[in-house]
Amino acid sequence: MVKVVVCGAAGGIGQPLSLLLKQSDLITDLALYDVVNAVGVAADLSHINTKSKVTGYGKTEMDEALKNAHTVVIPAGVPRKPGMTRDDLFKINAGIIRDLAEGVARNCPNAFVLVISNPVNSTVPIVCEVLKKHGVFDPKKVFGISTLDVVRSSRFVSELNSSIDPKNTRVTVIGGHSGVTIVPLLSQIPNGFVDSLSKEQLDALTYRIQYGGDEVVKAKDGAGSATLSMAYAGARFTLTVLSAILEGRSGLVESTYVNLEADAAATAAFKEQTGLDYFAQDVEFGRNGVEKIVALPKLSAYEQGLLDVAIPELKTNIAKGASFITDSA
Ligand code: NAD
Ligand code: LMR
Repeated sequence: MVKVVVCGAAGGIGQPLSLLLKQSDLITDLALYDVVNAVGVAADLSHINTKSKVTGYGKTEMDEALKNAHTVVIPAGVPRKPGMTRDDLFKINAGIIRDLAEGVARNCPNAFVLVISNPVNSTVPIVCEVLKKHGVFDPKKVFGISTLDVVRSSRFVSELNSSIDPKNTRVTVIGGHSGVTIVPLLSQIPNGFVDSLSKEQLDALTYRIQYGGDEVVKAKDGAGSATLSMAYAGARFTLTVLSAILEGRSGLVESTYVNLEADAAATAAFKEQTGLDYFAQDVEFGRNGVEKIVALPKLSAYEQGLLDVAIPELKTNIAKGASFITDSA
């Protein structure tokens, strides 16, 4: 049995994400949990003629939803409105994520946990600290989904160079998932892409990747943030990780925000380079989740400058998330 639970399944991301996960034969049980309307969404999806069984769980049924889960994907919580930063969501979303992580610790302590809810830079440390508190933390199994930054990078790069196929051009994005903490490594794109750009073009492209989320928030004008592109990115990430875990496919890599303890060999090097406990970087997946955190490539001076700005912000975001749990213990 491979039970995947979507927490926040009736939301703007949750519904299309659940639809995309319903397409996969890797999943045998798709459990949809939300404080509103999950039962209705589940009834709807359950008619689709793929293998998985879909069940819906309402507000009081979190424990039942999470029981024996293999993987838990979390897009629960409030999205931004124009003028807000992701950190402004902490006040509401921190408590929601803490409670869901408590549910994971109680009901499926061995599950893989994939976090979408913002601010990701802080919500991932919250999940990890809750699991640590319960003695069930495995850093190889907790991921912040920053795939949307990668998806956007591929697309935006292809808009500048029509010979680049966005589907087959994966851009490594390191750091975290908010504003200046999003650091795209455009110098890694083959065939001298970055050298073909003027300084103005490079600045504009970097800014667009870092603030792509704001573009959508502004366009939706109060009706939320990215949902459909996020569902696409979230499904791509979830199914990649599941493919490595369940099918043993090797060489599968995505940039994702993880606790650096996930790869003992990489930890010392990353800590020396960044001084951080959490960081988004290319990760190779395996049967146990994180197989390897890929070493950072040589950064251009431009990218090193971006990283130098990202690190203090990340440090603050990480401390805020971790202390939300440790200070309340
Ligand atoms: P939404 O408001 O449309 O949906 C959120 C859902 O969560 C709602 O259905 C709500 O009922 C549910 N929910 C609230 N509290 C809950 C709880 N305690 N347990 C279970 N479900 C609960 O919002 P959305 O647009 O789907 O965005 C969800 C989150 O994802 C936001 O925090 C947003 O900022 C974040 N997000 C992250 C990324 C990323 O790249 N990681 C991208 C887009 C959005
Ligand atoms: C995104 O990058 O689109 C998400 O993090 C949502 C947001 O608040 O911008």
